[in-house]
Amino acid sequence: MTGIPSSVADESTPAGDGRAADAKLVVDAVTVEYHTRKGTVHAVSDVSLDVPRGSTLALVGESGCGKSSLGRAMLQLPRPTSGRVIVDETDLCGLSGAALKHARKMIQMVFQDPISSLNPRRTVRDIVAEGLEIQGVGSGRAEIRQRVDAALEAVGLDPAHAGDRRPSEFSGGQCQRIALARALVLEPEVLVCDEPVSALDVSVQAQILNLLEDMKERYRLTMVFISHDLSVVHNIADQVAVMYLGQVCEVADTEALYGAPAHPYTMLLISSAPTLGGTLADSLGEAPIAATSSELPSPLNPPSGCRFRTRCPRATEICATERPQLIDIAPGHKVACHHPLEEN
Ligand SMILES: Nc1ncnc2c1ncn2[C@@H]1O[C@H](COP(=O)(O)OP(=O)(O)O)[C@@H](O)[C@H]1O
Ligand code: SF4
Ligand SMILES: [Mg+2]
Repeated sequence: MTGIPSSVADESTPAGDGRAADAKLVVDAVTVEYHTRKGTVHAVSDVSLDVPRGSTLALVGESGCGKSSLGRAMLQLPRPTSGRVIVDETDLCGLSGAALKHARKMIQMVFQDPISSLNPRRTVRDIVAEGLEIQGVGSGRAEIRQRVDAALEAVGLDPAHAGDRRPSEFSGGQCQRIALARALVLEPEVLVCDEPVSALDVSVQAQILNLLEDMKERYRLTMVFISHDLSVVHNIADQVAVMYLGQVCEVADTEALYGAPAHPYTMLLISSAPTLGGTLADSLGEAPIAATSSELPSPLNPPSGCRFRTRCPRATEICATERPQLIDIAPGHKVACHHPLEEN
């Protein structure tokens, strides 16, 4: 493992206080709130995560649980309400102006809807070049063009064929390749992918997932992969964090999360994932959990104590009064539940 030397990874580092010493990306107590006419939307509440260098963390949970808000907060788009986002030694939340602009090169994002995320009026080359121009990377047009064409080739597009066309001439999968080239041309160290395949046909999803894996190796990326679907992230993630109503309820290495889920909500997600429900949940021995109510409470007014308690079949009195803390139940396996599921 390419850990930070121990002299650096002591309690004096931003990632100190017992966090993983080889973390490339540290999300520390991040909260995102939106102030609306109806009140404050608690989109992300006090989330902490470590993503080790070169690994992929999947962020999973149903629509509205705050995944995109957290992903965007990592890039300071916009800056979170509170908390820290540390890439290497740099707390991005503490930067502004030119320093933030410069640091943004390190962390890039690919969005869910490939077509609307690309400017329809610009050519593919211009779209991919935009970040380089904003960052002032490259010494002149020839170098920018060379970098853009290399990024297009890397994602499997022929620059001579694709470079002067506009996004509307491409399929969803090809547009996602263009979006990926736009992110990679800056040679970022961290890539946040927000549901990058959710809008694509199933047949194209696998191609884009394979491409992401290839790019991860080639560019030595550390990745955050957001998805509402646990079955999509199974093969791509090293670690999975499950979110519910703005909080992380369980985080574990992928095998442990699927093989021995400890949080009732994780179990519910596994049993309801179309391609996992029949196989994984059965093999776990625990009977698949049925939610007591399928309605997601409003993040304007989240339940007291454990936010999952209004849907949890295991809820007791303490679940309404005390917020369960995210605690270690095994190495690398954390769960926030007063009555976690037992491993069989
Ligand atoms: N700009 C915004 N203003 C107000 N509320 C927002 C805004 N963006 C997201 N939300 C709300 O915040 C919550 C989390 O949204 P989001 O982060 O998009 O979740 P997810 O990506 O998991 O679907 C939702 O209730 C959503 O309606
Ligand atoms: S803390 Fe209570 S309500 Fe929350 S998931 Fe655990 S058992 Fe269910
Ligand atoms: Mg989203």
